[in-house]
Amino acid sequence: MTAARHRRRPLVSGNWKMHHDHLQSIRTIQDLGLRLTAADVGPLDVSVHPPFTDLRSVQTVLEDRAIPVALGAQHCYSEDEGPFTGEVAPPMLARLGVSYVIVGHSERRQFFAMTDEQVAATLRAVLRHGMTPIVCVGETEEEREMGETEARLTAQATAALKGLPEEQTAALVLAYEPIWAIGTGATATGEDAESACAHIRGVVAELAGADAAQAVRIQYGGSVRPENTAELMGQRDVDGLLVGGASLDAAVLAAIIREAGPAGR
Ligand code: 13P
Repeated sequence: MTAARHRRRPLVSGNWKMHHDHLQSIRTIQDLGLRLTAADVGPLDVSVHPPFTDLRSVQTVLEDRAIPVALGAQHCYSEDEGPFTGEVAPPMLARLGVSYVIVGHSERRQFFAMTDEQVAATLRAVLRHGMTPIVCVGETEEEREMGETEARLTAQATAALKGLPEEQTAALVLAYEPIWAIGTGATATGEDAESACAHIRGVVAELAGADAAQAVRIQYGGSVRPENTAELMGQRDVDGLLVGGASLDAAVLAAIIREAGPAGR
């Protein structure tokens, strides 16, 4: 939309959450591969984030068919190895060809008690292994009603990024995911998404300087659909989308990607 935006390549990510076993994931990624043309993905990056059990299968299909989609994970632990039953380590994901890891999704924070400290440690572990963290922040409905959205975003982004070197900050991805919009069908308006993403960019500027703030990509997530993609992507500070439910169907995800490319210029 503006000249400044040209420096940031949009990223559309499909977070499949706890949906699709590995056979369903194989079918979905094959379907997506057939639908996407080089022109569709020319203007942006795309990632899919299947459950851990599906990563190897999806990676094989992406590689075998040269599908221009990056592999992503939904979470990982902050340590490289050790007695942490049930957890998955960042180097394990790196070995599988994972490029992006969602860190601190609100569902991890809400249902699995992930703390700001764990988010900060995990995103650093992801960076150490050469992958890109997608660090999620977002306010609850109550916080929004109390007028505390910006304070919440400042607190979460600061806790996650404080002390991180400028180049590492510039290279990561942030996702603004208002909790009241996740899985509810209630999407933030373009204006709301812009105001929150611009605020987050301001926080990054305070923490890591203006250059890092200009470079960092900020996604919006929460009930994204093909119908609201153009409005969201038309905002100056919205550099991509983190899509949940609508990303489970390859046709719908492909439609979002096709809308997002031209709208994000
Ligand atoms: P929905 O798109 O289903 O609202 O989920 C958003 C989300 O949490 C993506 O990480």
